[in-house]
Amino acid sequence: MKKIVTIVGARPQFIKASVVSKAIQETDGLTEVLIHTGQHFDANMSDVFFEQLGIPRPDYQLNINSVNHGDMTGRMLIEIEKVLLKEQPDWVLVYGDTNSTLAGALAAAKLHIPVAHVEAGLRSFNMQMPEEINRILTDQISSVLFCPTDSAMANLKREGFDDKPIQVLQVGDVMQDSAEFFAQKATQPQGFELDDGFILTTFHRAENTDNPERLAAIITALNHLHTNLAPVVLPLHPRTRKVIAAQGLKLDVHLIDPVGYLEMIWLLQRTGLVLTDSGGVQKEAFFMGKACVTMRDQTEWIELVEVGANELVGADTNNIIEAAMHNLGRTVKDESRLYGGGKTSKEIAKRLNSLI
Ligand code: UD1
Ligand code: UDP
Repeated sequence: MKKIVTIVGARPQFIKASVVSKAIQETDGLTEVLIHTGQHFDANMSDVFFEQLGIPRPDYQLNINSVNHGDMTGRMLIEIEKVLLKEQPDWVLVYGDTNSTLAGALAAAKLHIPVAHVEAGLRSFNMQMPEEINRILTDQISSVLFCPTDSAMANLKREGFDDKPIQVLQVGDVMQDSAEFFAQKATQPQGFELDDGFILTTFHRAENTDNPERLAAIITALNHLHTNLAPVVLPLHPRTRKVIAAQGLKLDVHLIDPVGYLEMIWLLQRTGLVLTDSGGVQKEAFFMGKACVTMRDQTEWIELVEVGANELVGADTNNIIEAAMHNLGRTVKDESRLYGGGKTSKEIAKRLNSLI
């Protein structure tokens, strides 16, 4: 029996792990131990996903959150190392590009435990982003890189991964698996009564929340769109909520608390436009056939821009408003199977079983 220690901590990782953990459970010869670093901890940022998506209860809850990057990553490194020494797994599995990802990969690599990185090879080419630092370093110390897209493969080729003793495999994107698997179970958020065609917005990236000019420009655009174009529905990320409260800014939109994944899918199915800075939500818009306007200067999911499904507008008020106006109600088609077609989690489990 091969033992996999999976490390999760942030909302998108619960959603990705839900389908891969299921595939691991269904694969003979694999067993999984789950570590939750505690990075996300509110009930609506963590527990709800375990309950709704049938993710096994974490075997270890490290409760590390709400501190600076070095403090968070360092504490996670210390605690994950202890668990790995005890569990002695065959693999450590990490997802994406958060501090939990880097801490897990680093703890394992130093103990010579092979690391498998899901969502490898993505690049924004913006080293100011904590995510870019985390993903570049994680890729370098992994043994197997599960890449979601052609562009992820090309990025790794450009960085010389062909000549490294690291397996680079294109397997598609696990978020397509989650979106398809849970689509039938979509649930109306309690008390939500707006008609279809609203603008569904999420934003939380440090590059937007921690830069007062960008934050003010986004808020001005959202307030304008809500008054003049269509209701703006904004499930507010705790990071954004804290910054807005601290600065006394006024959001004049349809604010709601973060919702569970089944409610998020329901909103995505009914929205007229997705307006976001989230990585995951950009792709989910596409899976649901909705146009997306992305409030960032770069995206790692560049193929969505290339096929015309996603428009990058940065954090400029006028650009956001203009793009929202001409994209509202526009539908897009997934004709080119950019993300593997929903079979990625099974492929990852199969590879984990056969590679070592
Ligand atoms: C993290 C990831 C980011 C990812 C995002 C997904 C890093 C560096 N960033 O950003 O890549 O896109 O998760 O959502 O790992 N908070 C709460 N309750 C919670 C969670 C967070 O109040 O349940 C607060 C924290 O106390 C902190 C702030 O939100 O003040 C930011 O949390 P943190 O985990 O540091 O980063 P995120 O912005 O969530
Ligand atoms: N999401 C959710 N509830 C919300 C907002 C987002 O379930 O209120 C889901 C969303 O559908 C996607 C994931 O969270 O699957 C994206 O996470 P987030 O935007 O926090 O992080 P990113 O993808 O930018 O790293």
